[in-house]
Amino acid sequence: MAASLPSQMRACSIAKQGGLENIAVDSVEVPSVGPTDVLIKVGYAGVNMIDTYHRGGVYKLETPFTLGTEASGTVAALGSNVMDLSVGDRVASYGLGAFAEYCKAARAKVVKLPEGLGDKEGAAALLQGLTAWTLLKEAYPVKKGDWVLVHAAAGGVGLLLCQMASYLGAHVIGTTSSEEKAKIAKENGAEHVLQYGEGFVDKVLELTGGEGCAGIYDGVGKDTWEDDFKIIARKGTICTFGNASGPVEPFPALKLAAKNVKVCRPTLGNYVYTQQEFEGYSAELFKLIADGKLNLRVHGEYPFSVEGIRKSQEDITSRKTMGKLVIKVGQD
Ligand SMILES: NC(=O)c1ccc[n+]([C@@H]2O[C@H](COP(=O)([O-])OP(=O)(O)OC[C@H]3O[C@@H](n4cnc5c(N)ncnc54)[C@H](OP(=O)(O)O)[C@@H]3O)[C@@H](O)[C@H]2O)c1
Repeated sequence: MAASLPSQMRACSIAKQGGLENIAVDSVEVPSVGPTDVLIKVGYAGVNMIDTYHRGGVYKLETPFTLGTEASGTVAALGSNVMDLSVGDRVASYGLGAFAEYCKAARAKVVKLPEGLGDKEGAAALLQGLTAWTLLKEAYPVKKGDWVLVHAAAGGVGLLLCQMASYLGAHVIGTTSSEEKAKIAKENGAEHVLQYGEGFVDKVLELTGGEGCAGIYDGVGKDTWEDDFKIIARKGTICTFGNASGPVEPFPALKLAAKNVKVCRPTLGNYVYTQQEFEGYSAELFKLIADGKLNLRVHGEYPFSVEGIRKSQEDITSRKTMGKLVIKVGQD
């Protein structure tokens, strides 16, 4: 079933992976829905580091494609097999094609937004919130009293990891690159915040009584990787989940033997693969928000234009942002 739809829409197309100059906003056909798809009239789109990997080519994709992986808005059309949603429902989605006036998503990657959570908060919360929550529940399931370390603690995922880990009873040590970021991370659940560089390893060992951290959540990647092995506890788990400074290099398995360390390299997509997983974790995330356990810090809102999207990508890689970046696609 579909409301009356235009045939054309504006979408952020990438014809060739590469620099910011490859970002364009063109008029394209509104996607047609398959039997298990949902078409969303986008209100807001969330900006994520993965968009820069898609645009830049760290993750190879067939071109042309529509950029953006996180949308919120209202259901505009439904595939013939989708019986449990209605046109007009307020939803958020996870999948490529979000920077567009209409976004097609698989039913399994669409979740209803609860009452009280607006489009902007929906786009601000979903992907980074699910990433942080699944890391803490599955990658290294944090236990009460654990010492854990969150790199880039004032970033989008970082701020949520700090708040959630603290809520789950862990002692959280964060890392950041500036005093200003350290202050924000401390206001959001980090007990201690350290800057990278000289003395960092010693300070973590001192804070943890020489033991190191039971879990490390590392979205920075290449630059923090070697230090992770110095500050991980015996039998600890290093969760390397991002490439903000570049991907981690291959390493010999024997590197793990020194402290019986576990390393995992998770992606959100494999934790919320089925509709049941996606809806289950989303429900837990939305409950945390409804219960007032999470502060969703929106760092910046950008217009849906070539300049706006380019600026959002420039900003998220600039190390100057603290929290979530969103693009306002729809009109109020
Ligand atoms: N595996 C998954 O499924 C998944 C899902 C979502 C996100 N992620 C990953 O999680 C990480 C954080 O994502 P986010 O969207 O929340 O971004 P973000 O943390 O808001 O921004 C990235 C942060 O990384 C830090 N950083 C360190 N070295 C950097 C460098 N050379 N260039 C740029 N930034 C650098 C910066 O904080 P400081 O200045 O404080 O160091 C920067 O603010 C990213 O690596 C992303 O790919 C992974």
